Amino acid sequence: MNEEQRLSAGRIKPDKADKEEKDYSQYFQTVYTEPSLKKARKRGGEEVAYFDDFEIDERFQGMGKGRKFYIRTYGCQMNEHDTEVMGGIFSALGYEVTDTVEDANVILLNTCAIRENAENKVFGELGHLKSLKRRNPDVLIGVCGCMSQEESVVNKILKTYDQVDMIFGTHNIHRLPNIIHEAYMSKEMVIEVWSKEGDIIENLPKVRHGNIKAWVNIMYGCDKFCTYCIVPYTRGKERSRRPTDIIQEIRQLAAEGYKEVTLLGQNVNAYGKDFEDIAYRFGDLMDDLRKIDLPRIRFTTSHPRDFDDYLIEVLAKGGNLVEHIHLPVQSGSTSMLKIMGRIYSREAFLELVRKIKVAIPNVSLTTDIIVGFPNETEAQFLETMTLYEEVGFETAFTYIYSPRDGTPAAKMADNIPMDVKKERLQRLNDLVNEYSAAAMKQFEGEVVEVLVEGESKRNEEVLSGYTRRSKLVNFKAPKSVIGKLVHVKITEAKTWSLDGEFIGVVEKKEVLI
Ligand code: 5AD
Ligand code: SF4
Repeated sequence: MNEEQRLSAGRIKPDKADKEEKDYSQYFQTVYTEPSLKKARKRGGEEVAYFDDFEIDERFQGMGKGRKFYIRTYGCQMNEHDTEVMGGIFSALGYEVTDTVEDANVILLNTCAIRENAENKVFGELGHLKSLKRRNPDVLIGVCGCMSQEESVVNKILKTYDQVDMIFGTHNIHRLPNIIHEAYMSKEMVIEVWSKEGDIIENLPKVRHGNIKAWVNIMYGCDKFCTYCIVPYTRGKERSRRPTDIIQEIRQLAAEGYKEVTLLGQNVNAYGKDFEDIAYRFGDLMDDLRKIDLPRIRFTTSHPRDFDDYLIEVLAKGGNLVEHIHLPVQSGSTSMLKIMGRIYSREAFLELVRKIKVAIPNVSLTTDIIVGFPNETEAQFLETMTLYEEVGFETAFTYIYSPRDGTPAAKMADNIPMDVKKERLQRLNDLVNEYSAAAMKQFEGEVVEVLVEGESKRNEEVLSGYTRRSKLVNFKAPKSVIGKLVHVKITEAKTWSLDGEFIGVVEKKEVLI
């Protein structure tokens, strides 16, 4: 199937008038399948297509003249970055950005499907937008991102949220001009969701948020299929961008004066596994990026399974590769990890941590943890607590397990009562706070390097920024240091941030080789 054929197969335009009676499943046959582990696991059938010839079709030139767009983003940095790409496409169409929904001609909700409460927020927001649509029927409302990849969500929107004009998924944001055009022309809801394993589209325009820090995708999708996780279904198979495209993009960012880049992927350690013509993995990429004259390079997020020795060796070289690794563990119990499909044991995780700490003694490790997974016993939960202490994580994102339709875990009984889940989360969060405060305390009296991002959210007299180890620092200094690397002497540690005294701007370091 070529691009044009696939697109025409992908047009779904259910008639709003008779949506009560219709069975919409027929609309999804060619482009959409319900998340199905069996089908999704059959990866590798589809070729990854590369497109690097994105341009705005003549028909759409100037479509946004005199119009404004508003995008609300939910979820992870991958979504934040997709929003920057959509912002770039809107700009190329002539739209202006607005941060007030009432002023917008097009409103997009870029959604997250990772947990039920993330989805509920979106449905709540759609509810609020109903009255806006009533007052201003010309406004276009769209739902995109991970939730759009779920058939149950699309059906729910079709049934109950007729204020929505367009739905599109994660694989076709480059089709935004066509989708908006279609929505303007049509009285019907425009739905274009591709159930693809995934392509790679280069050269999409982007309007980045700020000019100090930038996100750069290095790969898309996930093949890990942790049993609780919806991501492999909503984001497609693992596919890596070519090293030359990534290196070129980061060199360009360095030339534009950006000071920090965060490499993005659901599982960055699997980078390069899908290349058939070159043996080039995440360690190789980091070793090449180390040579670029840009002060800080971070990455998120890692999977312990693919974290190899060569990568550790490269990260230990330091330079612009910062001493912070976010390493989601999810649970400290080997038996729990097994049913979560994490493919490592408690012991293997601890061994990896040991190797990392030997190679990078001042590393800051942070993690993600899920409590209340089906059948989790008190003893298994306590193993998570002791693992946390043994590793000495500096902080963590902690979650209550949320069943996701179509995942293997959703077929298990969600049998831990909510009060038990909440109580475990509380105990874990107390531990996380205690460790965070202790990690902060170490910095009292030390001089740290801070990348100054701007005025503190709480007090415009104060500037704030982050250290290489991702600690938030607040201090007073002239506004002219915003965007620069500075030295700050830490005077007081709080649980989540550090206060300090400005010392001076860091002189430009030598070019790294
Ligand atoms: N329920 C709760 N937390 C989840 N995560 C992923 N899926 C679920 C789920 N179904 C968490 C994991 C992951 C983070 C991004 O979200 O901890 O690392
Ligand atoms: Fe989800 Fe991360 Fe597991 Fe992939 S590795 S399935 S994104 S938790």
